[in-house]
Amino acid sequence: MILVTGATGNTGSALLRELHTRGAGPSRGLTRDAARTTFPGTAEAVEGDLTEPESLKPALHGVRSLFLVSRLGPDREIIEAARTAGVEHVVLVSSITVQTHPHLRPADENLAVELLLKESGMAWTILRPTQFASNAAMWAAPIRNREAVRAPYADTGLPTIHPADIASVARVALTEPGHQGRTYALTGPEQVTARQQVEAIAAAIGRDIPFEATSRREARAQMAAVFGEEAADAVLDVTGGDVNDELLRVRDTVSQVTGSRARPFRQWAAENADLFR
Ligand SMILES: NC(=O)c1ccc[n+]([C@@H]2O[C@H](COP(=O)([O-])OP(=O)(O)OC[C@H]3O[C@@H](n4cnc5c(N)ncnc54)[C@H](OP(=O)(O)O)[C@@H]3O)[C@@H](O)[C@H]2O)c1
Repeated sequence: MILVTGATGNTGSALLRELHTRGAGPSRGLTRDAARTTFPGTAEAVEGDLTEPESLKPALHGVRSLFLVSRLGPDREIIEAARTAGVEHVVLVSSITVQTHPHLRPADENLAVELLLKESGMAWTILRPTQFASNAAMWAAPIRNREAVRAPYADTGLPTIHPADIASVARVALTEPGHQGRTYALTGPEQVTARQQVEAIAAAIGRDIPFEATSRREARAQMAAVFGEEAADAVLDVTGGDVNDELLRVRDTVSQVTGSRARPFRQWAAENADLFR
């Protein structure tokens, strides 16, 4: 049995779909609200809250392989709950910032979870994806409202990754031999700037979208009001304010692991065009 956490999210939902289409055997998805959730094929929706590791017992029953999204609850206890339940292999979603921006708090927290998993005694595979293509969903409201998209670092190209590629790597790691004890830095197939992302969304919905490059100061004020100043600065650093070669590098890890070329941003935009209409 494979348990997928974050199962209603961008990556987890793609993983459950892929496990189903590949006939990978029994799987279940964790959600805080099973009543409003259906998953593809025979995958069952199981209720549990990562902030309350005790609540994960039913979801973990009989599970041998776990896809784990981190930093949503007390990861030490979550990993211990998995080990106690008999989980043998965990595929963890970490972040590329562990190696590109280790001085930032989110990166440090991700590294701490990686170490907890490595010390757990369970087999592990660590995925370190870069910025997700699905982060562009934050522009859905202004685009639907026919307002301009405003973004800082408008012409900094990042090797943004389609969440389905993270899912594909996870599916291979969960179901095929040779991926335990491996750490995979994952990127998309090319660098894409915020301006180019908006152009790709415009092409997908068939109309122009006005775009305005904005300052760090303006973006920081908006983000800090929601996430706090430290988190805002961390996001702004890793999306353009303090980039480095390691972050900008396009890697072929997705194709090495899955045998398929990583999906470009324009594919994510085409698949999710309805979000912006
Ligand atoms: N976005 C990026 O650029 C980026 C980069 C590197 C790493 N990451 C990491 O990648 C992971 C996956 O991201 P994603 O975009 O696929 O996820 P997402 O679309 O943001 O979805 C969040 C998921 O987490 C679940 N969740 C939230 N709080 C929960 C709780 N207390 N208990 C149980 N489940 C909970 C939600 O399930 P329900 O609402 O159904 O309960 C949902 O399935 C995240 O952990 C993120 O830190 C993201």
